[in-house]
Amino acid sequence: MTSADAEKDRQVVDSITTPGITVEQVMDMYKSWANSYDQSMIKVLAKGPIFAAKVVKDVLGDDRKALILDAGAGTGLVGKELQSAGFSYIDALDGCQDMLDVAKEKGIYMKYICAYLGPDKLDIPTAHYTCTVCVGTIVPGHATAACLPELIRITKPGGHVIIATREVHLPHVGHEGKSFDDWLQIHEDDNLWRKLERKRVPEYQGEFAGIVYTYQIL
Ligand SMILES: C[S@@+](CC[C@H](N)C(=O)[O-])C[C@H]1O[C@@H](n2cnc3c(N)ncnc32)[C@H](O)[C@@H]1O
Repeated sequence: MTSADAEKDRQVVDSITTPGITVEQVMDMYKSWANSYDQSMIKVLAKGPIFAAKVVKDVLGDDRKALILDAGAGTGLVGKELQSAGFSYIDALDGCQDMLDVAKEKGIYMKYICAYLGPDKLDIPTAHYTCTVCVGTIVPGHATAACLPELIRITKPGGHVIIATREVHLPHVGHEGKSFDDWLQIHEDDNLWRKLERKRVPEYQGEFAGIVYTYQIL
């Protein structure tokens, strides 16, 4: 791999996460990126799936039968980490069918749900998952804090929601004039969940730091 190759992939990642980009533009880009996405993630040294899956393993312990939702599953990189750790009851949700089609070839997930994370109600029962993990999807032009009530609703009381994203995205993923962290706190003040950890991970993606949030549903 040349450094020019890696630079090209870094530029794709930058352009798909530029504040102001629309969901339609984002989905078009993922549609044409789906088949080479995994290679790109290797080149940009993306470690979000590894860090987030480690937290899932920590919170679930020996409960290998836990039902997990990979929200914003893409091509299944998080699912692959979870499968390697012995979890096999995992559903994938993503807004881009082409990304889900690539994930399907890996045979990791039980269900493939093509849907948007946002303020609208998902076609998923309340308190359905023991753990909901969302990696690289709380990003400009992707999903914002508007999706948090749904992530909370579909996760069981006592279960966990784990969210990982690059730190630079956080100022751009608020909702209705409040920041992402404001909304995390608002839902905590409303006794919907409690924060277990907000961990800053240096070199989450290349030289970029990431934040991995762990919340427990009340
Ligand atoms: C950067 S990729 C991350 C994929 C995977 N979690 C990973 O870590 O490799 C972001 C994924 O989120 C999906 N996505 C973007 N906005 C979304 C939304 N509002 N609802 C559901 N999926 C969305 C994209 O289609 C893409 O597959």
